[in-house]
Amino acid sequence: MSELIIRKPDDWHLHLRDGQMLASVIAHSSENFARAIIMPNLVPPVVTTDQATAYQRRIKACIPSEHQFEPLMTLYLTEGTDPNDVEAGAKSGLIKALKLYPAGATTNSESGVQNFENVLPVLERMAQIKLPLLVHGEVTSADVDIFDREAVFIERVLDPIRKKVPGLRVIMEHVTTSDGVDYVSSGGDDIAATITTHHLIINRNSYLAGGIRPHYYCLPVAKREKHRLALRSAATSGNSNFFLGTDSAPHTNGAKIATCGCAGIYTSINTLNCLAHIFEDDKALDKLEAFTSINGPSFYRLPLNDEKVRFTKSSTPINFPKSFSVQNDHVTVFDPGFELYWQHEPINAEEV
Ligand code: NCD
Ligand code: ZN
Repeated sequence: MSELIIRKPDDWHLHLRDGQMLASVIAHSSENFARAIIMPNLVPPVVTTDQATAYQRRIKACIPSEHQFEPLMTLYLTEGTDPNDVEAGAKSGLIKALKLYPAGATTNSESGVQNFENVLPVLERMAQIKLPLLVHGEVTSADVDIFDREAVFIERVLDPIRKKVPGLRVIMEHVTTSDGVDYVSSGGDDIAATITTHHLIINRNSYLAGGIRPHYYCLPVAKREKHRLALRSAATSGNSNFFLGTDSAPHTNGAKIATCGCAGIYTSINTLNCLAHIFEDDKALDKLEAFTSINGPSFYRLPLNDEKVRFTKSSTPINFPKSFSVQNDHVTVFDPGFELYWQHEPINAEEV
């Protein structure tokens, strides 16, 4: 197969940041995707509906006029979150989900949740109004090995929360282990997971073997090969509980290449090209649309995109920038470690 037409993809987990960085990255997403779930981990975080309204306005002001792109807003769950504000934001159509970061789990998560009992009233309200909770599924205790933090989170935090708040709809963001895949696969209609492009491609050797490679360091960290293969099977299976959330997370080179470097991999530019490549490798190109364009909106109970894109396979490798400049520094673009041949373009409704 050298051509494929699918509905325009959405990105169900994206970091756009703010200010100069937002202005520098937005077009990469608004060109390739129809919609994206925007992460609220700004400094300070987006915690109220008013703040999300203002942030959405700042994002929209940066979208190139020739792009149709809808930023779907989320709130950062804190122990002070007001259930009434959440409900009002959801009912207005602005707020599509709340994001739970265990305090200290990742970039800008200092205001995250320490005592889960304190957020139960918000979670109960969310269950009533069917607003999804997005979880960064890692415990943060120093005594838990970083490679075990997802599995331990499922057992100690996620499963107890779901039992305490029946009907709560949960998305495990950027799932990285077979434990996560198994939990979501057997968890019924109220649980789903996003999978990033990079976790389908890299394993822990990618950033640790033969030298430390900061541009493959993200959170949750990529795990052993057997986990990568479990993610590949889940993504390419067509199973409606799994969908794309790139977790594309721009940091400048200065912030990443440091004694204590930031977590985050930037894939917005070449994510779809990488995905077509690996779905083809796994003889699953017919499942690409489910992963990028159908399973996500179905779980969020949003309409599917009507626009279509055509993927074609070129005979020569496509060149992507290795990095792009932001103020006085650069953001490095994800290097999948293989050449990319699949390209894509929007097509008119009459053509299909
Ligand atoms: C994200 C970021 O930089 O904001 N980093 C990452 O490694 N994924 C935060 C997150 O989603 O964990
Ligand atoms: Zn993220």
